[in-house]
Amino acid sequence: MSKYLIEGGRRLEGEIAVQGSKNATLPIMAACVLNSAENILHNVPDILDVQIMAEILTSIGCTVRREGSDLYINSEGINSNVVCERLVSQMRSSIVLLGALASRLDNVQFSYPGGSDIGYRPIDIHLKGLCDLGAQITKERGYIFVTSDNLHGKNIVLDYPSVGATESLILASIFSNGYTNISNAAKEPEIIDLQNFLLGMGAKVGGAGTNNIYIDGVQKLHGCEYTIMPDRIALGTYLCAVHITGGKVMLKNLESEDNLTILDTIKAPHYKLLESGLKIRNLPGRAMVESTGIVQPISSIVTQPYPGFPTDLQNPFLSMLSVAKGSSFVKETIFDSRFKFISQIARMGANIRAEGSLAVVTGVGKLSGAKVYAEDLRGGAALVLAALAAEGKSEVVDTRHIDRGYEKMAELLADVGACIKRVDY
Ligand code: EPU
Repeated sequence: MSKYLIEGGRRLEGEIAVQGSKNATLPIMAACVLNSAENILHNVPDILDVQIMAEILTSIGCTVRREGSDLYINSEGINSNVVCERLVSQMRSSIVLLGALASRLDNVQFSYPGGSDIGYRPIDIHLKGLCDLGAQITKERGYIFVTSDNLHGKNIVLDYPSVGATESLILASIFSNGYTNISNAAKEPEIIDLQNFLLGMGAKVGGAGTNNIYIDGVQKLHGCEYTIMPDRIALGTYLCAVHITGGKVMLKNLESEDNLTILDTIKAPHYKLLESGLKIRNLPGRAMVESTGIVQPISSIVTQPYPGFPTDLQNPFLSMLSVAKGSSFVKETIFDSRFKFISQIARMGANIRAEGSLAVVTGVGKLSGAKVYAEDLRGGAALVLAALAAEGKSEVVDTRHIDRGYEKMAELLADVGACIKRVDY
């Protein structure tokens, strides 16, 4: 186990290079099983979720090798259609691999992805879509058995724009016989990254970034070299860190392979940050960010599918707003347990009242250091932000959840002046 020891009250100053995107890397790693070839991925974050996905791929016969921030994945030697239950149970997003394996293999045995730490997360939309494409699915003894030897193009209408189901069904359709149309698809930028990678492999897919995605089945794909987009949620987290500490930081590595500035993919939180008094100057591939030193309250935040306010930034914003000069209102509409971290930040003196999906944050000006427990990824990161701003010493216990999605968070923050140390015990 590890924990962070943090002495709050230091202003962040310097440069932060934003890591590659977790939520783009994971589906792209899953896509690597499609082509029986070597793929080279650049800008891959060195985080626990990527390690788990690498272990899953290795367990079915892929070779996966990391060199710095490059990941080499070769899926030529896939020799198993049974995906290890122990690994799948550690990471919800492993379910995206089901679509890719259904595409590559005739039969797949999969387990239910692990219980989630942010709420009930069913996979009905994934399974319904696979059935629409012609897969036969049986569920026995806690396993999912998929026969997918005759997938055919189909018009699929998702009941909800699920990110993972959209990705999984794109992957499942890649070799299908004919034309697939996915309506009410998720529009997240990570799906555009997946599409760009698939196009680089020779797939025929279009429409990502809109709610209508189409795939024309192909026979074969080739190897691909690709640079993963920067992580817009890590970017949003560090923007909140700068504001909560009254800091001034240059954020770097903000440009994706198709020259998209990643700030443009967080327009909703960007707008809210301006409302709360953070100054953000957009420069080519970088952003200069400076806090006024006073966090203004935000009238209302409602989490929504992209391009709405991302649920993954809700907890970091709650931390930031807990030191604001006034009250803010936050509504969570995607995951039912994402207010869980409120009981932890309350130990630092935060005044957040949550009822159902609504939280009212009354800013207290200053938080005070305390021992708190990181119980999930974004809640854990939000506790680190609170500790950076709190008076005195804090312990954020169990960094494992934070390690799932943030690359070397303690080192990165220490480099810009935070007093933070990781301790293994
Ligand atoms: N849902 C269903 N049935 C399904 C699938 C989803 O009811 O078959 C529901 C979920 O329960 C949830 C909503 O739909 O209430 C949205 O879930 P979605 O499938 O869109 O989320 P996901 O694909 O499981 C991804 C990200 C999450 C992010 C969500 C929403 C990855 C690897 N994960 O999850 O990221 O919160 O989209 O934007 O891309 C994180 O990074 O901390 C994280 C949790």
